[in-house]
Amino acid sequence: MGQAKMIYIYIMGKKYEVPSDVTVMQAMEYSGYKLIRGCGCRGGFCGACGTVYRTPDDFRIKVGLACQMVVEKGMQFIQTPFFPANKKKYDIGELNADLVSLMKLYPEISRCVGCNTCTKGCPQDIEVMDYMAAAIRGDIEAVAKLSFDCIMCGLCASRCPAEEVQYYVAVLARRLYAKHAVPIARHLADKVKEIEEGSLDEEMSKIVAMDKEGLEKLYDNRDIE
Ligand code: SF4
Ligand code: SF4
Ligand code: FES
Repeated sequence: MGQAKMIYIYIMGKKYEVPSDVTVMQAMEYSGYKLIRGCGCRGGFCGACGTVYRTPDDFRIKVGLACQMVVEKGMQFIQTPFFPANKKKYDIGELNADLVSLMKLYPEISRCVGCNTCTKGCPQDIEVMDYMAAAIRGDIEAVAKLSFDCIMCGLCASRCPAEEVQYYVAVLARRLYAKHAVPIARHLADKVKEIEEGSLDEEMSKIVAMDKEGLEKLYDNRDIE
């Protein structure tokens, strides 16, 4: 296997030479950055590594996840581990699963201009504009289902001309959907009751006292539904 060729990139405006086959995140570490913010799972799941970038051959600003993108020759980027966004506080038990609740907390949803910029920038390939359209219709179930894979990276909000915070609207819809529409999992409630009553204490003590081998055996032989 040959050695990767070296390319120049710009991290926050400073030029670095890095291997051409590394991710943006690895390129930062290769260049000496110690990642304290903007790095979590390294696997595309936590949404901590939002990145804004441009490549020399394209006028457009692009967004992506630093742990998932391979560097490109001459690219320049900055990190956005957090995008400024006002998260509303609410008691989910006091809200109905309807448009009134969404509009009360996030009235700005009606400002969407249908440009689809949010969808184009989403690293999870979520139809963000579609779930925002569903929010405007008050279709809580559609918002909840369409936004299910959201990792809260904030990249959709970073490009929205209507200054929406799509992912907070989506998480509200998912909470409302879970609270009001999804049937209660009876077996879960029963198990919690058993735990509270202490009827699993003996079994639990045995597990806590087990060695690694015993735990692995127990796990391998578990009942799978
Ligand atoms: S919907 Fe927005 S916050 Fe969620 S993953 Fe897509 S870009 Fe990130
Ligand atoms: S980027 Fe903003 S204005 Fe454009 S479709 Fe998405 S939510 Fe609507
Ligand atoms: S570090 Fe978690 S998504 Fe990139």
